Amino acid sequence: MDNSARQSLLDDIAAQVRDCSNCRLCEGRNLAVSGEGPADAPVMFIGEAPGAAEDRQGRPFVGPAGQLLNQLLLGAGLRRPEVFITNIVKCRPPQNREPRPEEITACREYLDGQIAILQPPLICLLGRPATQTLLDPTLAMGRAHGRLFEREGLSFMPIYHPAAALHNPNMRAPLEQDFAALATFLQDRKLTP
Ligand code: URA
Repeated sequence: MDNSARQSLLDDIAAQVRDCSNCRLCEGRNLAVSGEGPADAPVMFIGEAPGAAEDRQGRPFVGPAGQLLNQLLLGAGLRRPEVFITNIVKCRPPQNREPRPEEITACREYLDGQIAILQPPLICLLGRPATQTLLDPTLAMGRAHGRLFEREGLSFMPIYHPAAALHNPNMRAPLEQDFAALATFLQDRKLTP
């Protein structure tokens, strides 16, 4: 499938997400956030859920965690418009609470559709909810972060969520190490844009 066909399938998913009422998160949202980025991105980032800024703008990672993500991407030799960014749930949970299992399940078809269209060389899982949803519900971030997991022909790398370093400055160094591991993966596979 060529790139423009894949982009138009991603647009179809975004249109469904915009009007979705699969779970009760739709009741409190301002805008649903499907995700953004090119169909041929070398990396797909999957976070947890939109926050207040994302809900207002309809775009992923545009608040404080997004500013830090942009910086960390640059450190890994990536510019934000070169990567695809989304979340496990597409609507903001009330008070930014963690998404509930039934909300993650209700939203899963969109994420699975995006992964199937993109088939990215690497999927980075930002934080515990994304890691446990995509890999293993018992996997601890302390053990998993910065490591590569191969599943069903796809490569996954759990990394700490940028918001962790906003709450705890001690997390900045491990977060930078995770992005260094990501940069090494891309260089080894000659995927750096
Ligand atoms: N945190 C997330 O996990 N996703 C966003 O889109 C923004 C903040």
